[in-house]
Amino acid sequence: MEQHVEAKSEVSQVQKPISKTKFKHYKKLDTEIKVHEIAAAPDYLPLNSTEFIQHFTNMITANEEYDLFEYHKNYIKVMGYANRGLLETCLDYFTQKNENLIVATTPLHHTSWRDGIEKFVKHENIHIIDVNDSLNGLEKFPNIDKCDLVIITHQFGQDFDLNGLDEFKKKTGAIVMEDRVQGGTQEIKFSSPLADITLYSMAMDKRPIALGGAFLYMRKENKEIAEAIIKMIASYPPEPIRKRFIDLLKKIPTYLLYNKKRVTYIFLKTIQMLKLNLLDFTNTYRKKNPGFERNNFTLKPSKGLMKSMSQHYYDYRNMENLYEEKHMLFRSYLSDDIIRRFFPWYRDAGLTPYNTIYVDEKFVKKFLKFMNRSYVCIIWNPTYKMFNFDYPGKEKHQKFHDGIIYLPCLATMSHEEIRYLADRITKFDAIVSK
Ligand SMILES: Cc1ncc(COP(=O)(O)O)c(C=O)c1O
Repeated sequence: MEQHVEAKSEVSQVQKPISKTKFKHYKKLDTEIKVHEIAAAPDYLPLNSTEFIQHFTNMITANEEYDLFEYHKNYIKVMGYANRGLLETCLDYFTQKNENLIVATTPLHHTSWRDGIEKFVKHENIHIIDVNDSLNGLEKFPNIDKCDLVIITHQFGQDFDLNGLDEFKKKTGAIVMEDRVQGGTQEIKFSSPLADITLYSMAMDKRPIALGGAFLYMRKENKEIAEAIIKMIASYPPEPIRKRFIDLLKKIPTYLLYNKKRVTYIFLKTIQMLKLNLLDFTNTYRKKNPGFERNNFTLKPSKGLMKSMSQHYYDYRNMENLYEEKHMLFRSYLSDDIIRRFFPWYRDAGLTPYNTIYVDEKFVKKFLKFMNRSYVCIIWNPTYKMFNFDYPGKEKHQKFHDGIIYLPCLATMSHEEIRYLADRITKFDAIVSK
């Protein structure tokens, strides 16, 4: 069997730390702002046209069998068809061992994780960990003595501060599983020594990107769990080539609209000319976007997808540099006070394509209208979902959930556009602070 490409290159690749302030091309400008429109969508697909085409050709050229796993010194890497599929496989494994699985978890997750947890775990066994007011650290653990699994979803391109997890883990002996799709740098595999299983996605707008696929890391102490999970994935039906082909085709319109500035510009001008509501359009497009569609995900990845994943595993480095660089520039145009109120979680840099802002619930409608009038593409919280059952302290998390808005993604924005966006936010703040 062909050993996965990453296993060979991992040794030879020098693990370069990400530079903290890379303002190579960007010097802070203090001239008058020249642009008054932003040709950028709230998402970005981090790949060029050649890479896009290569994902198609990989379906034909991938002949070898790829292993679904790699054994490393301290961890095992397991490849899957989708992050949500890996999550459900893990939960399936844990609930087969213990049908009364007790879980402690952060309050907000990607829709697929919220649904997966609710599908496998009885709601009376799901205990919520409270987060701090800056929305970047754990604040209070549930008062329980028994817990099988801690599930953490990191947000906004950085890792949660796992305050208190050490004690809780010691007390309960729980396994810690984390969704790091929107977490911190992948130069480290786990967000903390406390994490046992870490999940990533290589889907459409992810870091790294293979237009599909996902992987997880499992500590070698949990080798038995990793082996059971590998067996389960190997027993799933393989992703049909036809499905991979159609899924890739469906991503083309989004690729053009999100990545090609000329296409985005023409689209925005058309919306303006026809006096259409941009906000309605972006929200509907995101909800119904055929490129994001994910129905059957308990599949074994096809050879083409495995080839794409192994080719692009290291791409996260360039992406992290790009996201970080642009975030730092954006941040440099915002006052400390605005950062504290609108981006309370900011610590160092945001390593996610989603340029997320938090707006107090009483100003959310006003903010959406304000940005819509300026023809800035924004979306009201498309990702993070609350659990469907009630629990003490839910109102605080609801408020947090309701205030999350995606701004245009900085990755494709010019320096002037970034300045203009920062200026819009500063203007909005001045209006509501009056
Ligand atoms: C934070 C987070 N977790 C999980 C997922 C699910 O990833 P996948 O599409 O590979 O199932 C996503 C995808 O958008 C995500 O943003």
